[in-house]
Amino acid sequence: PKTITVSQIKQLVSDGQKFTMLTAYDATFASMFSKAGVETLLVGDSLGMVCQGQESTVPVTMDDMVYHTQAVSRGNEGALIVADLPFNAYSHLEQAVNNAGRLMQAGAHMVKLEGGAWLCDAVQAMSRAGIPTCLHLGLTPQSVNKFGGYKVQGRDDAAAQTMINDALALVEAGADFILLECVPADLARAITETVSVPVIGIGAGADTDGQVLVSYDMLGLTQHRLPRFVKNYMADAGNWETAVDQYIKEVKSGDFPTAAHAFE
Ligand code: KIV
Ligand code: NA
Repeated sequence: PKTITVSQIKQLVSDGQKFTMLTAYDATFASMFSKAGVETLLVGDSLGMVCQGQESTVPVTMDDMVYHTQAVSRGNEGALIVADLPFNAYSHLEQAVNNAGRLMQAGAHMVKLEGGAWLCDAVQAMSRAGIPTCLHLGLTPQSVNKFGGYKVQGRDDAAAQTMINDALALVEAGADFILLECVPADLARAITETVSVPVIGIGAGADTDGQVLVSYDMLGLTQHRLPRFVKNYMADAGNWETAVDQYIKEVKSGDFPTAAHAFE
């Protein structure tokens, strides 16, 4: 099947539809989710925890991301593949563009970077090089050692305004998607209404254009306690196909996430 394009996703959003994303780290999951109709797959650096047993995403390397992106690309049937640039892979402009290019050659259709307006130059350079970008704002896990833990971001007015300004600047620089993690639902709604590109949320309430979950969490494969914003779709479904179908259905209908999965 032909790969869904960024412009098709933009069209879907302007038609008032929601879209879905799930993380995939290997060919089997990529095949499962793309065949089920998940529009976008994220080769997340969460593979550090999920696949490697690390305590954070900080140890994940470019070689790791290339390996998993290649595997996902081989299994994929028509989804748009977004791959994370890992920690310390985009600190300088030239390094950023080179590493983004490596992920594209490994099979990604878009790369994701964590951070605000300071990444505008990188986004612009990638855009010129033909590399679509997704900018991850809010709780950016690669900065866990600066944050001092995994906390909801953008709670006070100044931080909220900064996040809105960052999103606007990044879109102006050429960002194709914005991804918001663990931000109050009101702020996520404001950013979604303000920027001209699709906004994907995780722990960001129901009003973003798309939703993403870590696949292992939503399939109930995780041993640790699930964060509040996750729903274990396997609990009721009993098999993965029904679980993924239900996730897609609930995102499209706006039934997921509920207020209980969101932050105020
Ligand atoms: O790495 C990842 O899985 C992510 C999502 C949680 C957005 O970045
Ligand atoms: Na990530």
